[in-house]
Amino acid sequence: MRTVLVIGIGAGDPDHMTLQAVAALQRADVVFVIDKGEARDDLLALRTQILQRHRPDGGYRLVTAPEVDRDRGAEVARDAGRYRDVVVDWQDRRADLYREMLTTELAEGATGAFLVWGDPSLYDGTLRLLDRVLDGIEGEWAVESIAGISSVAALAAAHRLILNRVGRPILITTGRRIADGIPADVDDVVVMLDGRTAFATLPAQQRAELHIYWGAYLGTPDELLVAGPLDEVREEILAVRAAARERMGWIMDTYLLRRGADER
Ligand SMILES: C[S@@+](CC[C@H](N)C(=O)[O-])C[C@H]1O[C@@H](n2cnc3c(N)ncnc32)[C@H](O)[C@@H]1O
Repeated sequence: MRTVLVIGIGAGDPDHMTLQAVAALQRADVVFVIDKGEARDDLLALRTQILQRHRPDGGYRLVTAPEVDRDRGAEVARDAGRYRDVVVDWQDRRADLYREMLTTELAEGATGAFLVWGDPSLYDGTLRLLDRVLDGIEGEWAVESIAGISSVAALAAAHRLILNRVGRPILITTGRRIADGIPADVDDVVVMLDGRTAFATLPAQQRAELHIYWGAYLGTPDELLVAGPLDEVREEILAVRAAARERMGWIMDTYLLRRGADER
């Protein structure tokens, strides 16, 4: 039996590591890291810090593989057919990379760990990819998912928010999905993966009734927070975001859009 642990390491603060995550990390013989490139050096640094703190014994092997390139040009072109081809091809190449890593680096009886940003259940493809890859590999494999503190939880804590109003739903979605407006039947929408700053171009009528609670680099020393009526703070967030992105070379931000923020 070979075991693969998918460990949520939290959204940026090394203290986000849960005791369960620490215990899982301590079981790993091999730690797999997908290197997302230079712009994300800070993310790699967090992983290194976590490993140094929780595995000072160094009794594991670190296997780093470069992230598989995705043709972002086609993504921008928003040509639906071509976009699908690009994604399928990218997923195939990623699956090949994981298959290769797992079969060559993990011996029978060994335990491997993937360190995953935030929580493995939220906008992270590692578990899906492992399902797909392990389906085609010989031998017995077990996969365990270890929950982590997501950027959504970190955002809520930073703004001291309860995400749902009493007995009401929340929607967690992407910037792409709210480009034309937020659904009429949801009053609380958490937006992730929003490179296009969709909050700034929502229909004017929606903007007028929304508050935003925005956070970038949550949990890190560079954390940025802005909150207020969307129309009042929209320009401020755009300016703060652009400046931070320029300074850091990358940005990760998440926000809550709330209709009727004065009602509890
Ligand atoms: C690929 S998803 C991964 C989400 C992750 N699994 C989680 O549980 O937070 C990346 C998105 O998460 C959000 N995110 C992750 N870490 C963040 C942080 N420290 N501050 C703000 N947003 C963050 C951003 O919306 C970013 O675009």
